[in-house]
Amino acid sequence: MTVPERPVVTVTRRLPAPVESALAERFDVRLNRQDTPLEAAGLQEALATSDALLCTVSDRLGAEVLGVEPLRARLLANFGVGFEHINLDAARARGIAVTNTPGVLTEDTADLAVALMLMAMRRLGEGERDLRAGRWAGWHPMHHLGRRLSGRTLGIVGMGRIGRAVARRAVHGFGMRLLYASRTELPAGEAAALDAVHVELDRVFAESDVVSLHVPSSGETRHLVNARQLDLMPPHGILVNTSRGDVVDEGALVDALARGVIAGAGLDVYAEEPRVNPGLLALPNVVLLPHLGSATVESRIAMGMRALENLVAWSEGRELPDRVV
Ligand code: DGY
Repeated sequence: MTVPERPVVTVTRRLPAPVESALAERFDVRLNRQDTPLEAAGLQEALATSDALLCTVSDRLGAEVLGVEPLRARLLANFGVGFEHINLDAARARGIAVTNTPGVLTEDTADLAVALMLMAMRRLGEGERDLRAGRWAGWHPMHHLGRRLSGRTLGIVGMGRIGRAVARRAVHGFGMRLLYASRTELPAGEAAALDAVHVELDRVFAESDVVSLHVPSSGETRHLVNARQLDLMPPHGILVNTSRGDVVDEGALVDALARGVIAGAGLDVYAEEPRVNPGLLALPNVVLLPHLGSATVESRIAMGMRALENLVAWSEGRELPDRVV
């Protein structure tokens, strides 16, 4: 298939200015200046009238949307590492390539996971909410006691790039002991440098003070954290999720937090974003962030530039650097 000399690329959401400018230099870009999420009809129109889409996690590119006729688009350059919002089988069947942006948001997402650990262990969200609501009557020794993070045991589920970046921070910054469950074990040198012990999933939950999730969303990982795993955790345990919401059974988590089965949670992702389970909203012992893992100027520019690299490679008929399909 030949790619037009100046392909039409629909950019589904507003991106940092340097990215939009770089895209416009190279392609006939259609920008979403209002930044309103495209519904199914808007996505289908883009698929029917553009050569490629630069899409994001807020675009639901399911089989029905990708079934549009006539189809013009040949590439979905996803702005983000996770691609569960794209039906890969349908993309493959329709001859649409899919790329993502791995590696460029690792450090920021790891930073946010550590921030959530601290927020949940030290009850910082509760403290801030109290102060803003005028409920702070001054310092006193028993006010708002949290728990120390340093020196605790961290359990990591999923030792990919982000899991490893979290592990480095936890071990070198907070002197934490490390257990992890992952399909692939760390290379011996790295495991030794982190003193990381590879264990079964259940042991991670049973023996960690904090469990941090770093697995992609898939049929296999859906509700990987459920009532059974939460029951294994110690009552002072904290769950942190910066991966994808559906990895956790949110109903079971609400129940565990409400009954004191675990002490708290720090969440950045939800099963039905942007809807947040009302049970979570009602609980004081959970920190709730609006999917901010990669939300830094640096990461968002790097993500855009990485998507651009994939678009350029595709337009030049080269191998796609971050091909998913
Ligand atoms: C990612 O890269 O997957 C982030 O969650 C934003 O989509």
